[in-house]
Amino acid sequence: MCGIVGYIGNKQAGPILLEGLSKLEYRGYDSAGIAVRDGENEAEVVKSLGRLANLEEKTDSGKAIPGNCGIGHTRWATHGAPSQSNAHPHVSGNCTGSGSGKVESLVVGVHNGIIENYQELKAKMERHGYAFYSQTDTEVLIKLVDYYYKKYKVGPIDALAKTIVRVRGSYALAVMFKDYPGKIFVARKDSPMIIGKNDDEVFLASDVPAILNHTRQVYYIGNLEMAELSAGEVTFYNLDGDTVQKKLTTIEWDAEAAEKGGYEHFMMKEIHEQPKVAMDTLNKYVKEVDGKNVIDLSEAGLNADVLKSISQIYIAACGSAWHVGVQAQYVIEELADIPVRVELASEFRYRKNSLDKDALLVVISQSGETADTLAALRMAKEKGIKTLAIVNVVGSSIAREADYCMYTLAGPEISVATTKAYTCQLLCTYLLAVELGKARNVVDVYDYYIDEILELPKKIESTLENNERIQWFASKYASAQDIFFIGRGIDYAICLEGSLKLKEISYIHSEAYAAGELKHGTISLIEEGTLVIGSLTQSDLYEKTLSNMMECKSRGAYLFGLTSAGKYDVEDSVNFAVYVPKTDEHFSGVLGIIPLQLLSYYISLSKGLDVDKPRNLAKSVTVE
Ligand code: AGP
Repeated sequence: MCGIVGYIGNKQAGPILLEGLSKLEYRGYDSAGIAVRDGENEAEVVKSLGRLANLEEKTDSGKAIPGNCGIGHTRWATHGAPSQSNAHPHVSGNCTGSGSGKVESLVVGVHNGIIENYQELKAKMERHGYAFYSQTDTEVLIKLVDYYYKKYKVGPIDALAKTIVRVRGSYALAVMFKDYPGKIFVARKDSPMIIGKNDDEVFLASDVPAILNHTRQVYYIGNLEMAELSAGEVTFYNLDGDTVQKKLTTIEWDAEAAEKGGYEHFMMKEIHEQPKVAMDTLNKYVKEVDGKNVIDLSEAGLNADVLKSISQIYIAACGSAWHVGVQAQYVIEELADIPVRVELASEFRYRKNSLDKDALLVVISQSGETADTLAALRMAKEKGIKTLAIVNVVGSSIAREADYCMYTLAGPEISVATTKAYTCQLLCTYLLAVELGKARNVVDVYDYYIDEILELPKKIESTLENNERIQWFASKYASAQDIFFIGRGIDYAICLEGSLKLKEISYIHSEAYAAGELKHGTISLIEEGTLVIGSLTQSDLYEKTLSNMMECKSRGAYLFGLTSAGKYDVEDSVNFAVYVPKTDEHFSGVLGIIPLQLLSYYISLSKGLDVDKPRNLAKSVTVE
């Protein structure tokens, strides 16, 4: 979703803002803009529709706009179509154009989030003589700040506080006031925002990659908090206007981790990082004690007593993270013999029925900022349920608010289509399943499971070597209209993720089906040449799924079979076979997804699509 940047210091702000915005492109956007102030002069606002390259062209990569203090934004349209006038920054003045140029305005600002009661507030502002040039909720917000600033003749922080109590929704808001040159004021609720600092400069961003080239020292601003930023200085305030003390945190990710490192796309780089980040994640939670490997979840705050006290597990997440949950449901139920219910966070958060008070809610999220997942977490906490987050972004809202937190060590994931974070999340759920099983006294082959899990990074690496065959196959099927994925149990969960990967970056319609469900309707869609991908890694379900695949073949389908090496020989039955290394079958999902990630990547590439930034999608979905 939208990306925010800000800069105050001794350098020219424009180029730094544009560089920061380029690092946030992965979040998804349709227009962009910056506002820069040169000393006491009015802010100069420049916006453009489409790619950031258009804004770079208009501003000579930011160099054409003088000034050391500025804010910038990439917009992912929510209220109002993508257009220059709806692009941010927005201004408080009553201008007629698109709010660009050197605009006479008291307040200029950018915003990420949604103001739910913006229509009611807009009507109020119109009654007070404000005229609007855009359809956005953000313009309403900026004008409201202006209104309170003038009405109460209070400082910027008090004006922001008065605004915050009137708005419903989520925001990461950054504003500059005409009367306060060299300063940026910010406020935050439920939308991500970090503040980076070094001796003479302050940086503002929605996410870490935007500031990594300049500093690794960051502050996390809390919900309903505000801050005043000036060169090298940051002061935080709560809603009452009292100052709040905060400590700087060091970001461990290095700048290189957020670059492409020789790969054509972030997605391919991230696919190939999987063996390493999988091992890093396992090393965080598997320790050697007296010459034996044991799972140690103490860093997540979990111990055997907590695990023993749990009688039910709920899992809530969105998209691929939900697919991790679907797979974890099978693994945890089998290894730990405990009931698990997995739900889409957007559904779970509105559930009215009572939850088991001895349950553990596991929320899974790469960004740690997904609005529905965060809301599900808060709902469970309100009901007194224990919560565990499996999260990648350190210091994110979900990581901070959950009772227990298992960090995945995937590093920065830039490509919109998740790969390495998904894999690390799965590994965390495997460790959780085994440790829960041990705490509940139902695992009799503890050492064997740990050994099998520790072997997975190497096996991911050898799976990646299948590259050329998949690439060849992708070019053959790049023009497919519909692709079906079928499987049972863990294989069904693999299919869900394989199908989503394909849809999001190749724009080919695809569906993932529990293989047994095909005959209940979907099989009518199978015709001559339709590609059906069957996942067949589970012995007890192998024959059943294969039969379902044969039913499709009889109706003209072309079969792609994905299975475990050395176990089955599917060559006689399917048209194209792909093997992944053999592992304990509970853990085959982490291997089965690799060929499907590659397949999606190569199909997208063959079609000449924007692999890392697929249309309409945002990396981090911070609105409902
Ligand atoms: C996956 O490739 C998607 N980009 C998407 O489904 C993603 O997994 C989902 O939006 C959840 O995001 P999160 O992990 O940051 O919560």
